[in-house]
Amino acid sequence: MKLSVAVDGPAGAGKSTIAKLLGEKFNLMYINTGAMYRAVTVMAIRNNISHENVGALCDLIDNLEMHFENDDIIVNNENLSEKINTPEISSRVSSYAAVSKVREILVKIQKNIAKKYNVIMDGRDIGTVVLKDANYKFYLTASAEKRAERRFKELINKGINVEYNKILSDIIERDYFDSHREIDPLSKAEDAIEIESSNMSIEEVVDLMASYIKTK
Ligand code: DC
Repeated sequence: MKLSVAVDGPAGAGKSTIAKLLGEKFNLMYINTGAMYRAVTVMAIRNNISHENVGALCDLIDNLEMHFENDDIIVNNENLSEKINTPEISSRVSSYAAVSKVREILVKIQKNIAKKYNVIMDGRDIGTVVLKDANYKFYLTASAEKRAERRFKELINKGINVEYNKILSDIIERDYFDSHREIDPLSKAEDAIEIESSNMSIEEVVDLMASYIKTK
């Protein structure tokens, strides 16, 4: 039986930064499932496949070899890490992630990884669907304003020119869409530990989560 940690929560709650640090601390492979949905979105747009064209989307995914190398997502030998985090992909990924066939295929890949390795996965449906039996489940939240502020700083630091208000409205819209979609919407697993991180530093959140993992 492999060790698994699930981290869910809305956009910009700090899941990936925190999951990565916890992964290093406990020697777990970090899987950013949002990056997988984003990568599918990049490839679909590149191939002019709309989210409504389910058949073409499935063919596309069936022909994608996707894996992680350190923090990078590699798809058919191409490093897509820079391309997946643009504002355009952020605003379009939710509609591709709402397609049930897309979720079916990606969830299967995620479950297979968790069978082989000790993992920490972050996303929206990890504690509720992908790793229902995870040893530890966390649900990370923060106010929309705080999350938008963090995303804004992150993008500006990467040299991507963005407006705070646009980020905030995108985050609110994406949260709504992700939590109201029909299939596997964003929701807190009953047995997840909820952490409201609006007024906490990254280190404080990591330490708090680590304390649960150690003491349970
Ligand atoms: O975590 P993120 O912002 O990179 O995720 C991008 C999108 O992918 C998000 O809007 C919802 C979707 N997603 C999902 O539906 N299920 C997951 N496990 C992870 C992400």
